[in-house]
Amino acid sequence: MINRSRSNQLFEEAKKYLPGGVNSPVRAFRSVNGSPLFMTKGKGSKIWDEDGNEYVDFCCSWGPLILGHANDDVLSLVSNVMADGTSFGTPNVYETELAKLIVDNHRFVDKVRFVSSGTEAVMSAIRLARGFTGKPKIIKFEGCYHGHADSLMVKAGSGLATLGTSTSAGIPESFVEETIVLPLNNEGAVDEAIKKFGGEIACIIIEPIPANNGLLLQSKSFLEFLRKRCDETSILLFFDEVISGFRVGFEGASGYFGIKPDILSFGKIIGGGFPVGAYGARAELMDCVSPDGPVYQAGTLSGNPVAMAAGVAQLQVCLQDGFYDSLKEKTSRLTREIQAFADDQNIPFHIFHIGSIFWASFSNKNRVATADDIDAEAPEKFKMFYDELLEQGIYIGPSSYEVGFVSAAHSESDIDKTIDGMKKALSKAYDRN
Ligand SMILES: Cc1ncc(COP(=O)(O)O)c(C=O)c1O
Repeated sequence: MINRSRSNQLFEEAKKYLPGGVNSPVRAFRSVNGSPLFMTKGKGSKIWDEDGNEYVDFCCSWGPLILGHANDDVLSLVSNVMADGTSFGTPNVYETELAKLIVDNHRFVDKVRFVSSGTEAVMSAIRLARGFTGKPKIIKFEGCYHGHADSLMVKAGSGLATLGTSTSAGIPESFVEETIVLPLNNEGAVDEAIKKFGGEIACIIIEPIPANNGLLLQSKSFLEFLRKRCDETSILLFFDEVISGFRVGFEGASGYFGIKPDILSFGKIIGGGFPVGAYGARAELMDCVSPDGPVYQAGTLSGNPVAMAAGVAQLQVCLQDGFYDSLKEKTSRLTREIQAFADDQNIPFHIFHIGSIFWASFSNKNRVATADDIDAEAPEKFKMFYDELLEQGIYIGPSSYEVGFVSAAHSESDIDKTIDGMKKALSKAYDRN
């Protein structure tokens, strides 16, 4: 058993001062056994905890670290910029540089506004959608997560095309009434909602690659259908690309599927490991944002030079030839070999991937496209799988609903080690050998 004594001790101390001992709930390890590991160092594909244990890391800070930990290009630009001060609250060259890098290389973004998190990006972009259309309601999908803003912490109500109910205490009913929650991958439900509320709907928001409740891969035709219906009804199509943006290609899921959304939100990779989010759209929409237009939105640390520089350094590497092909190949090999093992051992298990995102579903369904398709037994299997993964020196997010990320820093030998470790973990979870 790995030694977790110092992490355990640090967690006891943290719990005295922080709710649940953490600053973001899933970190508390409530979906797996034991208490959280306190990490102290990361370099490339590896992280080390306070007890000195080493892990190959596929959590990658929940997605931002597409180059791995402590990347030399990112660190070098960040330390140069930081040596001259950390924040001015004035324009700085790095925000223009990052914006230009994105606009020049993303077909669907004319202008971009930087904020400090994915939640802030989505929340602000929803305001833009409402401000531009003059309509109050939004459609979202069960199984997509868009951050913790009031109007997005809503789950489906009791029938198709009914209003939702909130998923957190503290959200007034009047906010929830503006959000319609539908099942993914269901064209009829969208048509029904548009028929009922069409004139009031500002936007349809979706993770085009839903990756927060397992990996619920949607068919391209469903996304094309949303584009078509939005065009027919003057509803804005909003792709939340906080995870998929710069991950499955520089143009994210929009580029991957070749579908143009009206509004996009970004986070994670865009900040090179610093707290950055952004929203972007065509100029006509972005010109509605203050100070050019009437949709107010501001931020003390928005466009912070250190964070912008980290984003510039990271995205420049992402633009290099073959960058995404290499990530995809490593991820394909990882998932292919684990799947072959599971099939060979008759383990009812499926591992899905797209680009460098992967997810183990603990069910033998070969398609999981809606939240309801997820096997109810999966979390229990995952717990056993997770215990053994840590023993094998492999770190992934501590919940069966979280996806894993392969980074440019993962070597072929990291992938070999992970294939081997995951085979052992699967054998443990399913009592093989
Ligand atoms: C698709 C999506 N949107 C929004 C968010 C919220 O981003 P943040 O955690 O930076 O507030 C997340 C976070 O995981 C996300 O995956």
